[in-house]
Amino acid sequence: MGKEEVLKQIAEKILGSRRTVVFVGAGLSTESGIPDFRSPGGIWTRFDPEEFTYQNFLASERAREKYWQLGREIYALIKSALPNAAHLAIAEMEKMGLLDCLITQNIDGLHFKAGNSPERVIEIHGTVMYVLCLTCAKRYERDEIEARLAAGEKVPRCNDCGGLLKPATVAFGQPMPERETAEAFRRAAAAELFICIGSSLVVHPAAQLPVVAKDNGAFLAIINRDATTCDAIADIVYRGLAGPTMEKIMEHVREMRS
Ligand code: APR
Repeated sequence: MGKEEVLKQIAEKILGSRRTVVFVGAGLSTESGIPDFRSPGGIWTRFDPEEFTYQNFLASERAREKYWQLGREIYALIKSALPNAAHLAIAEMEKMGLLDCLITQNIDGLHFKAGNSPERVIEIHGTVMYVLCLTCAKRYERDEIEARLAAGEKVPRCNDCGGLLKPATVAFGQPMPERETAEAFRRAAAAELFICIGSSLVVHPAAQLPVVAKDNGAFLAIINRDATTCDAIADIVYRGLAGPTMEKIMEHVREMRS
């Protein structure tokens, strides 16, 4: 089957499915100028993930300083990033009533800039948009902490209790957000159509979601530039860039629907 035929098949599945779950990774945002993690030039090809674990963050002031330095670099990219065609396509799916939910491993908030509603989005690895105190759970807007860092603070602490502040993202070794994780697995198990876009599917437990969907009878489509760990169990594997691919799929969806 030609590449265009495959895109038409995905569009037909989206139109025919009563419960479509889209599951995305950092590959969705590279066309918005935000590097992913494991492609050439990705974050973990430039920094050692071992230095950015939750345990290291808790254990050493130096590790916290490095964590915030990297965090500021990534946040500057995210702040100026715009949603790309792939984000806009997923927002259009919601507007057309064709999206049960979006489970994102991304922490950049671009889905909301694209128009997805918060109640339809599960941020399973958290978000850079706010900061939490690890002791009293007080919540700060990210820009407030960024201003303190720009003014010279290296390792911000909580104004109320003096506890350590950390962006509301999930670091390696940090517990996953319980409610979001449980909800993501519940929705994956109930999905009729499960579409993975822009993830290498190597980080667990998130990478288990397509397997759970498939095990429970979902049609599994994977759209990715490179091979993923779930290609062998997928019903459709489409090798391509997220933006142009999702744009073409939504063109077919609009044509078939009218
Ligand atoms: N279009 C399609 N696929 C792309 C594009 C693109 N424009 N750019 C990159 N990709 C693909 C790459 O081929 C790769 O397989 O996206 C995937 C990105 O994989 P990773 O960098 O491993 O990112 P991700 O799967 O989201 O990582 C999961 O790892 O470090 C943790 O918490 C972090 O959420 C992240 C998790």
